[in-house]
Amino acid sequence: MQDSELLAKAMEAAANAYCPYSKFSVGAAVLWQDGSVSLGVNVENASYPLGVCAERNAIAGGVVTGTKKIIKLAVWTAIEGTVAPCGGCRQVIHEFAESDSVQVIMGGNTDVTTTSIGQLLPDAFTPSDLGK
Ligand code: THU
Repeated sequence: MQDSELLAKAMEAAANAYCPYSKFSVGAAVLWQDGSVSLGVNVENASYPLGVCAERNAIAGGVVTGTKKIIKLAVWTAIEGTVAPCGGCRQVIHEFAESDSVQVIMGGNTDVTTTSIGQLLPDAFTPSDLGK
C-alpha cells in the first residue's frame, strides 16, 4: 500500500476523533505484515489522563485481530506542517515494529514527512532487555 493511501485512511479516521477537550483531532492508520490495516483516533475523557492517542488505539485494533508486526504507520492531524508521535506512542510503535526501519508517515494540511521508528526512538527499550 502506498504511503499516500495509508495517510488518506488516517485523515478520514481523524474526522471521528473524540477530542472535546483539546480539540486536536488525530487519526492513525497501521499497515500490518499480514496486509491488514487498522485505524485509530484519539479518544479523550473528562478525566483527562485517561485519554488515549490515535496511534495506540490503531495498534490495539490490529493486535486484537492477532496481527503483531507493523510495516508502516501513518498519523494525520489537521494542522499546518506535521506532528510526530508522542514519546509514549513511539515506545508502543517500536514494540510491534518489524524493524527499526519501519516507516512513520506524518501528514497535516500542508505537509507530509516520513521517517522511521529507529529515527524517532533510538536505543529503544525492547522486550529483549527484560531478559538481561
Ligand atoms: N495525540 C495523539 O493522538 N497522538 C500523538 O502522538 C500526540 C497527541 C492526542 C492526545 C490528545 O487527545 C491530543 O492529541 C492533544 O494532545
